Amino acid sequence: MLQAAPTRRIGPFNVAPIGLGCMNLSHAYGAPPPPAAAETLLLQALDLGVTLFDTAALYGFGANETLVGRVLKPHRSKITLASKGGMAGVTFPDGVKRVIDGRPEAIRRHCEDSLTRLQTDVIDLYYLHRWDKRVPIEDSVGAMSRLLEQGKVRALGLSEVSAATLRRAHAVHPIVAVQTEYSLWTRNPEIAVLDACRDIGAAFVAFSPVARGFLTSSPPDVKALDAKDIRRTMPRFEPSAWAANLGLLDGLAAIADEAGCTPAQAALSWLLDRADHVVPIPGTTNPSHLREDLGAADVHLPPALKTRLEALINQRTVSGGRYAAASQVEVDTEEF
Ligand SMILES: NC(=O)c1ccc[n+]([C@@H]2O[C@H](COP(=O)([O-])OP(=O)(O)OC[C@H]3O[C@@H](n4cnc5c(N)ncnc54)[C@H](OP(=O)(O)O)[C@@H]3O)[C@@H](O)[C@H]2O)c1
Repeated sequence: MLQAAPTRRIGPFNVAPIGLGCMNLSHAYGAPPPPAAAETLLLQALDLGVTLFDTAALYGFGANETLVGRVLKPHRSKITLASKGGMAGVTFPDGVKRVIDGRPEAIRRHCEDSLTRLQTDVIDLYYLHRWDKRVPIEDSVGAMSRLLEQGKVRALGLSEVSAATLRRAHAVHPIVAVQTEYSLWTRNPEIAVLDACRDIGAAFVAFSPVARGFLTSSPPDVKALDAKDIRRTMPRFEPSAWAANLGLLDGLAAIADEAGCTPAQAALSWLLDRADHVVPIPGTTNPSHLREDLGAADVHLPPALKTRLEALINQRTVSGGRYAAASQVEVDTEEF
């Protein structure tokens, strides 16, 4: 079993240091794998010691929760199951669209739907996927706290919020985790929210920790991305920015080589080393990438290599913003 490293704390849960993001088994980066391959990957993650599994009502407009619920139901007591509401698919005459809705009645409905799809009575960690800025955060978190009182969820989290919003929410009900993008090329959490999490005793769950495939030995070919691949909308993957960003990868490979690990492992180990309250959740459809990513829990970068890595890839050396304007307005994070 990989991940022999000490567990990390998320509120009432002890989790293996690296969790699994399940999103791309149903959604996001091109055609999802066939159901049998997705099932195999989830079970392999379990065998390799993953205990935190992350999904959301949004992913595949429910399909990801259905998959995770079906495959992990027999193992429910062994895992920490995290899901998210407040953003979900809504059916319109021209198809299903992603809608942010943080009103209390929407949150109640999203949670009920998630419980059904996940085939469970309770979700361990329930996040507000996006703060709906038309609704006071206190109202959305208040609705989530009632789900907790009713035994439908065990602990509360937020995603892509600022330190100020986190503190407002935490005043309504304890928040045990903030999930936000964090990696060598996305350092925004270092402005304030990482410290705010530590101050209130919350975990920081780092999503897209290998930069959606960038911080690896096989970065995507951005000219060949599937028409529905969400990276097509992201400025850093736009061909001219991407070409500049690829120029950073020889240096990453050299540092990883010196550390005796792979680029993805260097990127994940760097995150684990940032602080004990950081829990990365890489996502993959590929069994060998899964094994590689989880192996990062046993990698320790010497301080000199960490310093070189941080100087090589950071917000000043990367080209392009992380989100296009339409997605940027939906988040509440401090940005460089
Ligand atoms: N809260 C939010 O708003 C939010 C937003 C985004 C994501 N998330 C969560 O965070 C999870 C992870 O996000 P993410 O999928 O963007 O993370 P990620 O691990 O940074 O990126 C996944 C991409 O990297 C590739 N990859 C992973 N490990 C690799 C390796 N060792 N070598 C080569 N390629 C590798 C994967 O391709 P292969 O399939 O080929 O390995 C996939 O295309 C999601 O599943 C979801 O649960 C949350």
